[in-house]
Formats: sequence, C-alpha cells, structure tokens
Amino acid sequence: MRMYDIIKRKRDGLELTPQEINYFVSGYVAGTIPDYQASALAMAIFFKGMTPREISWLTWEMACSGEMMDLSSLPGIKVDKHSTGGVGDKTTLAVAPIVASTGVPVAKMSGRGLGHTGGTLDKLESIPGFSVEIEHDRFLDIVRNVGVAVVGQTANLVPADKKLYALRDVTATVDSIPLIASSIMSKKIAAGADCILLDVKCGSGAFMKTFDDAEALARAMVDIGEKVHRTTVALITNMDQPLGNAIGNSLEVREAIDVLKGCAPEDITETCLELAANMLFLAHKGTLISCRGLARRQVESGAALKKFRQMVSAQGGDERVADDYSVFEQARCTRELLAPVSGWVKSMDAERCGLASAALGAGRATKDDAVDLTAGIILNRKVGDRVTKGDVLATLYSSSEEKLDDGERRLLSAFDIGGNRPVRTPHFLARVTTEGVERF
Ligand code: URA
Repeated sequence: MRMYDIIKRKRDGLELTPQEINYFVSGYVAGTIPDYQASALAMAIFFKGMTPREISWLTWEMACSGEMMDLSSLPGIKVDKHSTGGVGDKTTLAVAPIVASTGVPVAKMSGRGLGHTGGTLDKLESIPGFSVEIEHDRFLDIVRNVGVAVVGQTANLVPADKKLYALRDVTATVDSIPLIASSIMSKKIAAGADCILLDVKCGSGAFMKTFDDAEALARAMVDIGEKVHRTTVALITNMDQPLGNAIGNSLEVREAIDVLKGCAPEDITETCLELAANMLFLAHKGTLISCRGLARRQVESGAALKKFRQMVSAQGGDERVADDYSVFEQARCTRELLAPVSGWVKSMDAERCGLASAALGAGRATKDDAVDLTAGIILNRKVGDRVTKGDVLATLYSSSEEKLDDGERRLLSAFDIGGNRPVRTPHFLARVTTEGVERF
C-alpha cells in the first residue's frame, strides 16, 4: 500500500477502505507518513468529504491509536458530555455535579481553552489549590468515592488526534465535518463512557455557523456513536451570543456556582438543566420529562452544590469558593464599557466577545501561553435588551490598563446597537438521536 494512492483515491472522491484508513492512521502516528502527505489527505477529505462508513472507520482507528480508558470498575452506566466549544460555556462545571448528585458516576476528561473559546481545565484551576492532573487510579478512586472528577486528558489518549489536529490547525482543514466528528468522537470513545451527550454549538461563536452544518455534524457524530455501540445524543444549541453573562476563567466558575445555587441567568441555567436531564436520561434514570424534574430538584435541594463542594475538595481545591467568591484571586484592574448610543442590542458577535476576553488575558493564542485566571468580562446587556447611551454594557477585568484598552475596543465592536427591537432566537434548536432530528 502507498500513501500516494490513498491521497489520489480520496482526491478523486472514492471511498477509502478500512485497511487504507488503518495504514494512514498507524503510519502517521508512527512517523512513517510525513506531514505533507497527511496534509494532502486532510485537504482531499475537506473537499471530497467522507461516507458515514469512512468516518466511523477513521474514528475507530484514531480512538485505538493510544491508551483506551477502562471505566468498567465503576458501577452503573457512565455518561460523558462534550461541547463543540463556545464562548462563556461553563456547563460542565455545573452539569457534572448535578448528574453526580443523583448517583450517576461522572468521570470526565476535559481540555484547555484555545483561541476565542475557553476550556474547563483552565476554569477549574482558578479555584485555589484545585488540581486537574491526577493519575489514573486516583481519578477512578475519586469517582468511586465522591461520584465525580474532572481531569486533563492522559498524555497518550488518542495520539492520532493530537498530531492531526495540530496539522489541521495550520493547514486550514479544521472546519471539515468528517474531521471534526472523528476528532471529537475518537476522544470520547477512548475516554471509556457507555453513553455520550454532545452539545453542538451553532452560531457566530461556534465552529458551525449555520444550523445545517451543525445538524450535519450532530448527525455524523450520533451515527459514529451508534456504529461503535455507544448511545449518543446531540443537542444543537445557540451560540450567537455568549452563554450566560460571564466570560473568563474564575468569573465563569462563579457563574456555574450560581447555577447550582439557582441564581444564575436564565440561558445558562436552562442549558445546564437540559444537558443534565439528557445525561440522566441516557443513564436510564427515567423519561426525559422526569429527568428534567430530577435535575431541577437536585439544584433546588442543594444536593448539586454539595456535590460540587465535595468534588472541589477531593481534587485539592478550596471548597470555600462555593460560599465566598473573594476566595478567588481578584483582577488588579477593572473598567466599565459604556453604551455609545441608545437603542436595542440587536446582535452580538460571540467570537469577538471571546477574543476580547482572550485579549484581557483570559485566553491563549498558542497552546503554550499562560492564562490570567482573573481576567474576563461580565456582560450587563445581551441581545434583546434596551440600552440608553452611557449605560454599563459590561465590566472588564484584567491585570493591566493596556489590556483593558484592547479588550474594551474589541468588546465594543461585538455589540450591534440600533433602532429596532430584535426577535430573540431560541436557545435550544434541536435534539438529534438515531431516530432523527427533533426541531424545537
Ligand atoms: N474540537 C475537537 O476536539 N476537534 C475538532 O476537530 C474540533 C473541535
């Protein structure tokens, strides 16, 4: 077999065989296939796509390229959750304890932020003392004893994706549905859960800008899940504006704690409850309707907040953050962004909001950059709100006045304020299962 022929066949729009996909993935991980041939194949896939069978073969080969987690020693059905990435998306921080507080074990591996999107690990590290680098046996012990742990991916989980993702990032081949689907699902499969809940973001702050693309990605991932016997459900949710009011690491943890206390903004609260309900449904805790009730009761009774405290403490963090936000390190400088004109907030560019937060210090441009855990934004106004010139649109947090200047300029450019009251778009757009697509 030759890599040249595999590239040529895909370039000509033919379906690759499982043997060809295995040859590519194993050769690329072993270093016998060079980056230039892997880039050519990625670009051919970008233009010619892949059949559902090819996508699942590619996913499986990638999942098997490194260590596979074995969660079988944990009791019950293990459900994982994954978001395709957005701005202000702190759902894992609230959803994991809500689900775990019902007795469903949550063994979660998360990632770091890059570009305009944040990452769960950075957010958790803003809790003083919290450790996300926990070796495998201890991770399982915490899940067994506490019911939930959120840690970083082990170094050898899906090495094929680590190499291929870095290559796609510099060859303009990230936004390909077969490549995104196989990248995400290979990591979920290797992480070992029985069922997978996907939150596919759609809109200005997401990879998928249109509903049709989000639906195609959701369908591709649900299809992969079915083929490898992991029940998979995808919710398509709106990312046309940031989720909740907080963007930036410690600010987002505070808002997630507010969700657990029942006092967070409505969009983030409802998103967390719906995600938790779908995870509980996948874990066979009841019908979707009864699981919605269960998730809400776990918050109202304080059980979910108690589980959050236990998780923080088990991972070395200071659980007092749940009661006293001054325990978080505080930003040195703050500034209010004032509305330059009166009118309605007609739209917001979520990606620009994320980039503004990154410019304040909350994000990283390359994976080796350090992040300022105190930096970020609290939005006072969002789409559909009326503003009067001079109103506070947002408060910005950073470590320097220069960064505030940059962040302020960027955030202002994310707001479109004008004459007509906009129609608010729904937050939940669709639910995708093997049975089909239910539009909301
Ligand atoms: N997230 C991933 O893990 N992979 C992609 O390709 C895109 C988003």
